[in-house]
Amino acid sequence: MSYPDSESKSARLYERARAVLPDGGSRSSIRMLPYPLYLASAQGKHVVDVDGNEYVDFNNNYTSLIHGHSHPAIVEAVSRQLAHGSAYAFLNEAEVALAELLCGRVSGFDQIRFMNSGTEAVMNAVKAARAYTGRSAIAKCENAYHGTFDTVEVSLGVEPTVLAEGDPPSRPGSPGTPQGVMDDVVVIPFNEPVAAERILTANATRLAAVLIDPFGTGMGRVLPSDGFLEMLARFCKAHGVLLLLDEVVSFRAGYAGSQGARAIPADLTALGKIMGGGFPVGAVAGRADVMAVFADGADGTPARLHHAGTFNANPITMVAGLKAMELMTESEFDRINALGDAFRAGITEVLSLTNTSGEGAGHYSVFSVAVDDPELARPRDRNKAMESNGLHRYMLNHGYFLSSGMMGVISTVMDTADVDPFCQTLLDGIRSLKGRV
Ligand SMILES: Cc1ncc(COP(=O)(O)O)c(C=O)c1O
Repeated sequence: MSYPDSESKSARLYERARAVLPDGGSRSSIRMLPYPLYLASAQGKHVVDVDGNEYVDFNNNYTSLIHGHSHPAIVEAVSRQLAHGSAYAFLNEAEVALAELLCGRVSGFDQIRFMNSGTEAVMNAVKAARAYTGRSAIAKCENAYHGTFDTVEVSLGVEPTVLAEGDPPSRPGSPGTPQGVMDDVVVIPFNEPVAAERILTANATRLAAVLIDPFGTGMGRVLPSDGFLEMLARFCKAHGVLLLLDEVVSFRAGYAGSQGARAIPADLTALGKIMGGGFPVGAVAGRADVMAVFADGADGTPARLHHAGTFNANPITMVAGLKAMELMTESEFDRINALGDAFRAGITEVLSLTNTSGEGAGHYSVFSVAVDDPELARPRDRNKAMESNGLHRYMLNHGYFLSSGMMGVISTVMDTADVDPFCQTLLDGIRSLKGRV
C-alpha cells in the first residue's frame, strides 16, 4: 500500500465519482485528501479496498460496528429474515423483542420508538420534548455534534467562545438557516457549569429540553464532568425541562449505556449506531409519560406527535439489532472497555519511549492517539477532514485504518493480541517520521 497513488483504482474512482457525486461521495465525514479510499469488501476486523489492500478497521463505521463486519450470527439472522421480506407496512415480532431487550436493560427506558438514523433519533426526541412541554427552544453545547439537521447544527464547528468576552452566540450551521431556528437554540459552553447554568436559567421558561452527549462528540471527545452533568440534571428537574441524552455513540459505554455507567437521570434518550447491528437505525427511548406523546389516546384522540417512516423498525434492522445486542453481554462490554484501556496504555508508552508529547486518550472502547506534535498528527484539529498525512498516513500505509483525529474504535472481534502489533507500528511510524524531521 502506498497512499496516495494517482494510478490506484481508488484515485480513478474518485475522479469518476466527482462528476456525479459532490466530493465523490455521500458523507462529509469520510473525506480524505487527496482522495478517499473505496472499499471492496469487509469481514471481521478487516476491510479491503478496491486495489486489494487490507487494513485493520479501527473506524468501524464511525463507532456503529460493535461486532466488526459481517458477524456470522448477524449474517445468519439477516439472511433468514431476507428470505421472508425486508420491509412491510405492518409490525414485526423482532421489533417487540428488541424493544423489550433495551427497556429491560436501561432503567430509564419505559418505552422506545424506532427509526432509521441517529439524526432522526435526535430530531424526533427534540420534537417529542417540544410536544410534551409545549415549549419550542432547546439548549445544546457549543460545538456538540448531534447529527445533521439545522437545529442541532447551530454553533457546530465554531471557534469556542471566550467566556470573558460574552456568552456563546447561536451561529447557523449552513447559509440560509432560518433565523427562527437560531432563536430557538440556546447555546451553552461545554463543561462550564456556572456560566451554563446562568444562561439556562435566563431561558428556563422557553426550554423544552437540554441536549447533551455523554461522549462529547464534536468537542474533542472530552467527557462532560460530573459537576456539569449534575448541574444539567438539577436545572432540568427544577424547571420542568427534559434532560435529553444523545446516546447515539455513547451507548457503547456499557450494558445500560453511559446513563447506566454514570447514573445520568435522562428523561429522553436518542439512540442509533450499535443497536442496529450494522444496519441503519435510530431510536427514541424514555419515561412512559414522555413517550406517550407518540401514542393515540384510548378515546381515539390523535397522538400529540405524529411519527411515521417507511423503513421504521424494518425487520432486517430489527433482527440484526436484536442479535447484536444479545451478543453484547455485560462481560463483553467490560472486555472491550478494558481493551480500550490496554490500547491507551500502549499508546502512552510509545509516546513516552519516543519523547513525544501526548497520550493515549479516549474512553471506554474508543481510543485516540492524541499527539501534540504537528509534524506527526493533528488530533485536536477535530473539524478538519481526515488528514491522511503524517502519522495517520503512515498507519494507513502499514495496514491500519484510523478515523480522523487518529481515533480508534474497538469491536468484539478484536482482542489483546491486537494491541502490540498496533503499538509496534505506531512506534516505527513515529521513529521514521521523527527521523525525517
Ligand atoms: C453524538 C451523535 N449524535 C448523532 C449522530 C447522528 O447519527 P447518524 O449519523 O446515524 O445520523 C452522530 C453520528 O455520528 C453522533 O456522533
